[in-house]
Amino acid sequence: MLEEKIKEVAGILAPKPALVILTGAGVSAESGVPTFRGPDGLWRQFRAEDLATPEAFARQPALVWEWYDWRRQKIHSVEPNSAHLTLARWEKYFPFFVLITQNVDGLHQKAGSTRILELHGNIWKVRCTREGKVFENRQVPLSQIPPLCSDCGALLRPHVVWFGEALPADVLEEAFKACSQASVMLVIGTSALVQPAASLPLFARQHGATIIEINLEPTPLSTYADFSLYGRAGEILPLIDQHLPRENLEVKG
Ligand code: OAD
Repeated sequence: MLEEKIKEVAGILAPKPALVILTGAGVSAESGVPTFRGPDGLWRQFRAEDLATPEAFARQPALVWEWYDWRRQKIHSVEPNSAHLTLARWEKYFPFFVLITQNVDGLHQKAGSTRILELHGNIWKVRCTREGKVFENRQVPLSQIPPLCSDCGALLRPHVVWFGEALPADVLEEAFKACSQASVMLVIGTSALVQPAASLPLFARQHGATIIEINLEPTPLSTYADFSLYGRAGEILPLIDQHLPRENLEVKG
């Protein structure tokens, strides 16, 4: 049954339709990065209100930074999995390809993806709370908690989107634009519960895209998806890839 669906999906992707992808924490799960809402999910062990809100940071910046430092150490030691690697390869073959991610771990980039819209920021970037300047920071572990801006001495914060904060407007606008142009949208490893990310596939669908979901289990999106492939992203994506015509996958240039 799954095998049949995989072949069918490969048949849809073979003619290289305008392809937009939305990924969530599930795409990094097989690399060993915890998801948020699964059985071992971060929000089962920690309260988001204590660690991932502007109010929490205002109250206890060191505590928030300790949690981010711990996550950075975890992510630092893992590698992209075959789901990330397959998507990085596909970027080269689909003439229209946009990868939208809710993940902040940077594993898509580590796998080689370059055309990425990061909806929720990036854990390897920090932002000055006074001037708003963004810096890359890959120090693991951090030498100082909380870290301070080397330019002005103000507190730095993680360059990620917290609960109650708006997503970066330019990134969100590009994401909606891509969805309006998509012929096919693949939604991989997201519980499809967090807005506005969860509305992107619905928007793509309204604009005529075929929606293909890859997840371990049904989500609120499943009702609207044309295909739901239940299984691990790191297994299903390579299987779809195997069924694509090989000439489509030759590297150009
Ligand atoms: P969740 O933790 O809510 O959902 C992860 C999804 O991945 C679940 O639906 C799992 O069934 C699925 N999953 C787990 N392992 C998988 C695998 N190997 N292959 C395929 N699917 C798998 O994570 P997100 O949907 O990404 O926001 O969460 C959205 C946002 O909520 C996050 O970006 C974060 C969080 O609060 C912010 O930090 C702003």
